[in-house]
Amino acid sequence: MNEYFASCPRGMEELLLEEIKPFVQESSIGKGGVLFKADWRSTLVLLITTRLASRVFLKLHEFKFKNEKDIPKHVESYDWQDFIDIRDTLKIQTILDRDGKKIYKNSVYMSQLVKDGICDKIKSIRGTRPSVELENPTHSFNFRVEGEYQCFKGIVSVDLCGEALSNRGYRPPGHKAPLRENLAAALLMASDWNPKEDVLIDGMCGSGTILAEAALMLGEISPAYLRCGKRISFSFENHPWFKKEATLKKWWDELKTKAYAEGKRKIGEFPEYRIYGFDNHKTAMHVSRETLKILGLKREHVPLDLEDVTTLVPPVEKGVFICNPPYGERLGDVDELSDLYYRIGENLKNNFKGFRGYVFTGNPELRKKIALQTSARVPFWNGKIECRLLRYELH
Ligand SMILES: C[S@@+](CC[C@H](N)C(=O)[O-])C[C@H]1O[C@@H](n2cnc3c(N)ncnc32)[C@H](O)[C@@H]1O
Repeated sequence: MNEYFASCPRGMEELLLEEIKPFVQESSIGKGGVLFKADWRSTLVLLITTRLASRVFLKLHEFKFKNEKDIPKHVESYDWQDFIDIRDTLKIQTILDRDGKKIYKNSVYMSQLVKDGICDKIKSIRGTRPSVELENPTHSFNFRVEGEYQCFKGIVSVDLCGEALSNRGYRPPGHKAPLRENLAAALLMASDWNPKEDVLIDGMCGSGTILAEAALMLGEISPAYLRCGKRISFSFENHPWFKKEATLKKWWDELKTKAYAEGKRKIGEFPEYRIYGFDNHKTAMHVSRETLKILGLKREHVPLDLEDVTTLVPPVEKGVFICNPPYGERLGDVDELSDLYYRIGENLKNNFKGFRGYVFTGNPELRKKIALQTSARVPFWNGKIECRLLRYELH
């Protein structure tokens, strides 16, 4: 059984742990993700099932060191020649934890030390060094440095994904502030939206990320369904060991074909009028429509309308309302937004009685403008911005 690390945006670790548990043998929360042990097949199923992980890394080598100069020697003690072909290319990224950052300032230099260790080992066995490629390498390694008592622990892992798992393949260009797909999925999971029972309304849908993730959840469709169909590769498929595992490769190809076929079938049977999207910007409407079209959904599956969220009247009597208003970091201006937040709250009070309401925002001052009592405030991170998913009971 191998050891893996599934990364996710900060704040989502506990949700990711719950999502991963059924697939794996052992799992625990680590910094920025979840550590787990599993066999290969379970891990590959996880790759096309997880809605929350950004990437999954396979742990290859771990060692302790006191001085960075010893890194190449420790790295060389692993049999890299069994994992990397001489024609393969590689990239190494070093991630330092808080203790590591206190001592080591140059992560690029540390990556070079790891690369030297790997390449020297391969040259000593095969006579040639593999080359470095930053854009599209065969192997993208992570070197994680963690402070330990009087020394450091170095962990070398390899990314199995290539393209991040959050890239579902439905995102058209054209919207300035889309949520990351796995963050949108996490917001829905942290809410009490029950896809089987509740209608969902996104009142400020932007590019339609929440709508798309909700549709995938409602239809119980693999988040990687388009990726499997479009044949966007996963980087482990190009790793030499996998190419040699004919049985596993055949099983994986069948798994992807099935995920795509099932996704298409479920889109064909998709229920109508269970998810609604609104925005007051024409371009946002257009991008949302395009997003849903790429997923294979028709207008009646997820109706969209150009409406102002501050006067919006819901098309149904009860359900879950969610919105992700601009919060002044990227779009809009804080003074103008104060009024918008106040009026969102007033409209929820007046027109959304019987709904559970959720507002996702990264601005603590703006959220106070909503004159409603929160029944929950769930912390999340959107990149470097600390955010909250606020819940309101709308009686
Ligand atoms: C931060 S973006 C939402 C991004 C979206 N969650 C996504 O992933 O693409 C905020 C959206 O609110 C919309 N918006 C701003 N003011 C609005 C209003 N008064 N009524 C409805 N939509 C509004 C903007 O057009 C923008 O698309």
